[in-house]
Amino acid sequence: KKITIAIDGFSSCGKSTMAKMLAKEVGYIYVDTGAMYRAVTLFAMRNGMIAPNGDVNRDALKAKMDALHVEFKLNPQTGKAETYLNGENVEHEIRGMEVSAHVSAIAAIDFVRTALVAQQQRMGHDKGIVMDGRDIGTVVFPDAELKVFVTASAEVRAQRRFDELVGKGMKANYDEILHNVQERDYIDSHREVSPLRKAEDAIELDNGQLTIAEQLQWLMDKFRE
Ligand code: C5P
Repeated sequence: KKITIAIDGFSSCGKSTMAKMLAKEVGYIYVDTGAMYRAVTLFAMRNGMIAPNGDVNRDALKAKMDALHVEFKLNPQTGKAETYLNGENVEHEIRGMEVSAHVSAIAAIDFVRTALVAQQQRMGHDKGIVMDGRDIGTVVFPDAELKVFVTASAEVRAQRRFDELVGKGMKANYDEILHNVQERDYIDSHREVSPLRKAEDAIELDNGQLTIAEQLQWLMDKFRE
C-alpha cells in the first residue's frame, strides 16, 4: 500500500495541482513544502535580512530560526489549507513576485533546509501523505512508495503561473514570470544542498499536454499499481 507519495519537479510545473487532487481522491493529507520556504523568505524580507541586491544575512536569519514557526491551517470556508507564519495568515503574501524573487536563495541555505526537512518528516509520520516540493523523493522521504517527477516546458509553466496569479486577482507580467521560472530552475538545480533532481526511482511525467483530468487519471493508475 502506498502511504507516502512524493511529487517533485521544477517551478510551476503543476505539481501542487496534481498533489492536491490525488490527496483529495485518496483521502490523504497534502503538504505544499514550497509554501514553507516561501514563508521563511517572507520572514527574512520583513526583518530586513535580504539586501536590495538579494544577498541574505544568514547569521541574522540563523539566530531567528528557532523563533520562526510555519504551519498550515484549514480554511473552513474553502476547505483549503493556508500557510501561517508565527500565527499570521500569509497565504496570499507568500505567492507574490517579491517572495518568488528571493525564495530560491533562502531555500539554498543549509540550516533553513535542515529545519524545514525535519518538520516535513514529522508531518508524514505514520499517515497517508502527499507532499510536493523539490527534494521530497530524494531527501525528505527517500523511501516513499510512489515518487513522481513532473516536467513541462518553461513557457508552459510560466503561462500557468500567469493564469493562476491573474485568476487570484494579482498583478502579473508574463515575461517577468518566465524569467523568474527560469532563474529558479537554475538556482534550484545548481545549489549545493539537495539540488533539484529526479530521484532514481521516480516516475517522470511531462504534463505539458495533459488536461487536469488526465493527470489525475495517470496518478491514480500509478497509485493503484
Ligand atoms: O513550489 P514553489 O514554487 O512554491 O517553491 C518555491 C521555492 O522553494 C522553489 O523555487 C525552491 O527554491 C524552494 N523549494 C525547495 N524545496 C522544496 C520546495 C520548494 O527548495 N521542497
